[in-house]
Order: sequence, then C-alpha cells, then structure tokens
Amino acid sequence: MQDHKFLIRCATTSDLQAITAIHLSSFGDAFLAQLGRRFLWQYYQLILRFRGGILLVAESDQITRGFAAGFLEPDVFYREMIRNRWRFVWPVALAAVQNPALLGRILAGFRLVRHATRASVDGLACELSSIAVLPEDSSRGAGTCLLRAFIDASWSRDAEMVYLTTDSTNLVANALYRREGFALVQTFHRSADREMNEYAIYRSSTTGD
Ligand SMILES: CC(C)(COP(=O)(O)OP(=O)(O)OC[C@H]1O[C@@H](n2cnc3c(N)ncnc32)[C@H](O)[C@@H]1OP(=O)(O)O)[C@@H](O)C(=O)NCCC(=O)NCCS
Repeated sequence: MQDHKFLIRCATTSDLQAITAIHLSSFGDAFLAQLGRRFLWQYYQLILRFRGGILLVAESDQITRGFAAGFLEPDVFYREMIRNRWRFVWPVALAAVQNPALLGRILAGFRLVRHATRASVDGLACELSSIAVLPEDSSRGAGTCLLRAFIDASWSRDAEMVYLTTDSTNLVANALYRREGFALVQTFHRSADREMNEYAIYRSSTTGD
C-alpha cells in the first residue's frame, strides 16, 4: 500500500516500540498515554495478536511516522482485554502509584471496557480505536493515508461499518473524519467536562455494495 510519500503497511511486533512512542508524543495527557509505555505496549500487542486486529503503520525514509489501530468485533476484543487483564495489572498499578489522581479514570476505564457494547449493525463492525501521527509530521497527509488504508483493510476483512469516537474539541481529527466520509452518529458526555463525537462510515456508502 503506497500513497504519496508514505508507505502504509501492516505492523509487526518490531513496530510496537515506535507505535507506543508515537502514541505518547501525539496523545499528550490523554488517559491511555498517562497509563504509560508498558500499558500501551501490552494494549497494541493485544491488537496485533487479536484475530480481528488491524494495526497499520505509515513510514517514510524508513522512519515510522504514524499508526492506525483498531479491531473487528469490538465486543469480542474487549472481552479479550478482560481475559488478558493480568497483562495490564502491573502497568496500571504502577501508573496509579505514580499518579493517584488517575484512580477514578482507571475505574471508569475498567467499567467502559466491561460494558463496551454498541448498537447492533447488520454485519460486522470495526472500531478504529486510535490513529496518530508524530507531531512533527502532522499536516503532511499521513493521517489521511492511514485512515483510508484502515477503512480499506476493514472492508477487505468483511466489515460492514467502521466507527470511532473522538473528543468534540479535537478539530483536526473531526475535520479529517468528516472529509473522509464519516457521518456523525451521536454526541455524548464521557464525563462532565468531556464531550465526545461518535462517527461511522458504511461500506455500502463507499463501495456501492
Ligand atoms: C489527527 C491526526 C492523526 C491527523 O494526522 P495528519 O497526518 O496531520 O493528517 P493529514 O495531514 O492527513 O490531514 C491534516 C491536514 O493536513 C492537510 N493535508 C493533507 N495532506 C496534505 C499534504 N500532502 N500537504 C499539505 N497538507 C496536507 C489536510 O488538508 C488537513 O488540513 P486541515 O488540518 O486544515 O483539515 C494527527 O493530527 C494526530 O496524530 N493528532 C493527535 C492524535 C489524535 O488526536 N488522533 C485522533 C483521535 S483518535
């Protein structure tokens, strides 16, 4: 998959270090980044191993510039996370000791994973759980290439729709999703001060199937 100056390819275990580093530098103070490098490594490794996992990286000049991650059958993936919780216990405990203020969000995150369901669709759904580009490489088209490749990978694995949630204040991300054909499904509050937008795109609207 080659688009403009970025090579988009499926990630392997040897990309996990770069992926976690990009996550940390692109998501700043966001919750998963605060759980630290070890947590992120386990999380992306689980996606890589999951049968419905999609983990793509964007490269140029042999440097990893960004990644997109997600999974088919999100309910099954979240059950897999619960089943593999022992992998996350140590990194999460370490993050909580270093920053006790995280405890409330950790409990909320645990509840979110346990009760993660979404309105049923006819056919297979795919969640885009994160997409990020190194800050110094932003606005050069890598995010667009990654998003298009992620959608293509979802369709080629028989997904009927791709959905995602993002902060309503994340203007670059919201503009990117709308530009690439995602429709706003709903706006909701994850907490009192955090408004989220949920977007979806349907295979039937893009391929005419
Ligand atoms: C959201 C994100 C992935 C977008 O990645 P990106 O590589 O900057 O995205 P693109 O370059 O494809 O598109 C962004 C802008 O660059 C412009 N652009 C795209 N290709 C371009 C090119 N070849 N040359 C110049 N500009 C280009 C786009 O028009 C777009 O402009 P806009 O910001 O005015 O809408 C990136 O900003 C990011 O990592 N953010 C932090 C993490 C995050 O918030 N992720 C999303 C929530 S899960």
